[in-house]
Amino acid sequence: MTGFSKMICLFFIGLSIFSGCNPSNSGKATTKENAAKGEVLFHSVGCTQCHSLNGETMYGPALNNILKTSIRVIREGKEVSLTVDREYIHRSIQNPEYEKLLEFKKQKMPKTELSEDQINQLTDYLISINEK
Ligand code: HEC
Repeated sequence: MTGFSKMICLFFIGLSIFSGCNPSNSGKATTKENAAKGEVLFHSVGCTQCHSLNGETMYGPALNNILKTSIRVIREGKEVSLTVDREYIHRSIQNPEYEKLLEFKKQKMPKTELSEDQINQLTDYLISINEK
């Protein structure tokens, strides 16, 4: 390596260390980090027992192609149309009984003991795979 490219190299190493220490970055997990944690959770807390991520219907609906789709759900005994967004996905995990997909009204998704952080991580993960 020439002296010059070494210098450039050191500059970039320095830059990456510096941005890693940027106080505005610390403490708050990025969406990407959340999604990575959500992926681990998705496979470890039992979601895969009922949900595929390849379009295949298992006991519950596949979750890879749901974002921005129009769906019909039953909410408090009434049929409602809505578009799947972040809030809906979050609600579905937090409180599966609140809105039930019409086509799956006979199937039951169990309420899991997940923290708000974990629900957000799962939500970010599902959104990340839907955006691929
Ligand atoms: C015992 C089976 C079962 C397990 C385990 C389960 N689900 Fe579900 N899930 C369902 C069923 C059935 C539905 C559809 C009925 C409803 O809306 O409640 C559903 C609906 C959903 C929806 C809404 C999908 C849509 O297209 O509207 C999301 C999001 C979801 N589940 C995420 C999860 C996550 C994340 C986990 C793991 C923490 C999980 N589920 C665990 C059965 C399950």
